[in-house]
Amino acid sequence: MVQKSVTHGVVPAAGRGTRFLPATKAIPKEMLPVVDRPAIEYVAQEATDAGLTDLLIISSSTKHAIDDHFDAVPDLEDALATSGKTELLEAINHYQSLARIHSVRQGHPKGLGHAVYQARQHVGDQPFAVLLPDDLMHPEDPLLRKMLEVRERLGGSVVALLEVTPEQATAYGSADVTPVALDKAGLGDIEGLGEDDVYRLNRVVEKPPIDQVLSKYATVGRYVFDPAIFPILETLEPGRGGEIQLTDAFAKLIDVPAEEGGGVHGVVVRGRRFDTGDKLGYLQALVTLGLEHPTFGPELRQYIEQMGL
Ligand code: G1P
Repeated sequence: MVQKSVTHGVVPAAGRGTRFLPATKAIPKEMLPVVDRPAIEYVAQEATDAGLTDLLIISSSTKHAIDDHFDAVPDLEDALATSGKTELLEAINHYQSLARIHSVRQGHPKGLGHAVYQARQHVGDQPFAVLLPDDLMHPEDPLLRKMLEVRERLGGSVVALLEVTPEQATAYGSADVTPVALDKAGLGDIEGLGEDDVYRLNRVVEKPPIDQVLSKYATVGRYVFDPAIFPILETLEPGRGGEIQLTDAFAKLIDVPAEEGGGVHGVVVRGRRFDTGDKLGYLQALVTLGLEHPTFGPELRQYIEQMGL
């Protein structure tokens, strides 16, 4: 069965950013700089690199700075052009090379599942990716591309799986999984996919108490969904925390027949992942990506070495 290729990405960005107060009192957390660009630009770049051409940001009334970042600023462009600052001009126009960005507001913050449901009209009857901007994936990690290829071969939905400790597992979706043999499943030739990297999900629960953690695998912020998730989200009851949970929706897809868009697989995250919605995770992203930056990296390394830690 040849599956439709995925062109749409959905980026839920309506959250209040309470974990990062006071920095996020007046600035969306997605706009906090990671080295020299806002966190949201890494997500847009990742989506573009994986072949997505259309991104819908699920926004809120306090997030207009995100739309502004992906828009033209004619007087700044003119000023940079006149003063010959071509590198900076290219940097502010970089958004033009990224997937086309749209946005829609969530209205009431009723949970991640409710946020993703706001994409229904825009995405239509197509498979689509969801990228949670708090999860910053290392720019060289081809995770999303691998997930999209698995979806093309197997259909259904594909989620990212992160190896975590039982304590950490209580903060995520927790999955019960069965390994998939790559050759047998027709996945053997996907570049970068290792033998222990693909699983079938049997069950998933949102933020379980520690004695109910299902495995070492947590479902984290990259998903490729069959549109069959929309009718499920439409009628889904609130779950953990009284919110409409995305995890509860794809938990139901596990039992839907493949011909109706069901079945959920997981691809293990092998690259580095940073939780930039968390103060420590954000600092780790800054240090790691700062040290790797072609311009600042060498001097930053020297500076840290001089601190003699
Ligand atoms: C959300 C999801 C959770 C997922 C996590 C990944 O939780 O509900 O299933 O594991 O993102 O970062 P949040 O971190 O928004 O509470």
